[in-house]
Amino acid sequence: MGPLISPSVLSCDFANIQRDVEMINRSAADWFHVDVMDGVFVPNISFGFPVISAIKKHANLPLDVHLMIQNPDQYIGEFKKAGADILTVHYEACTHLHRTIQAIKAEGMKAGVALNPHTPVDLLQDIVADLDLVLIMSVNPGFGGQSFIKNALLKVEQTKNLIHRTGSHALVEVDGGVNLQTGSELVKAGADVLVAGSFVFNSSDPIETISNLKALR
Ligand code: DX5
Ligand code: ZN
Repeated sequence: MGPLISPSVLSCDFANIQRDVEMINRSAADWFHVDVMDGVFVPNISFGFPVISAIKKHANLPLDVHLMIQNPDQYIGEFKKAGADILTVHYEACTHLHRTIQAIKAEGMKAGVALNPHTPVDLLQDIVADLDLVLIMSVNPGFGGQSFIKNALLKVEQTKNLIHRTGSHALVEVDGGVNLQTGSELVKAGADVLVAGSFVFNSSDPIETISNLKALR
């Protein structure tokens, strides 16, 4: 079994969102990665509920929603209504992370926590057993098309160890600068899910690019 592939719609053509979502539906992709940015937690603003609902309308794969927003708690129910299946919050953005994770699960969604490149994996020790997903950021969040930070490979190994040690069932997802080269190294390091934005949508044949990522071992 190859990695799960979660193409990031941040890099799609927003004037042709239905076309691009249907293209991903026909591909070997497993999830849709949906990046929400608030202009506060990260220095960029992406989109909110109407766009997520529009993606949901056409998507036939789960929506893997990555919240790059400060204090996400007040919006958890809204993200569920918009169509999120997996909701990932940032460790650095949540003061009461345990409460936030329980609230996500209470809405019937899978719960994930993302770590910025500078945040140590060990900080997840007391929460990882409650998680469905750990998202290791391999770029500083905020923009597509940045280059891969190599230390993410070590963090994937550390996260896998922590998951085994604690009996957690969480998957390890990696986001930022993923291509066939970095993707191959990540899969060898133990990554379960690869996010890819610009590498997929800027390629001449996105469906083939997704298959090539899916074939990594
Ligand atoms: C970055 C986002 C990513 C982004 C990845 O803040 O979280 O999901 O879309 O884009 P690429 O794959 O181009 O680095
Ligand atoms: Zn993301």
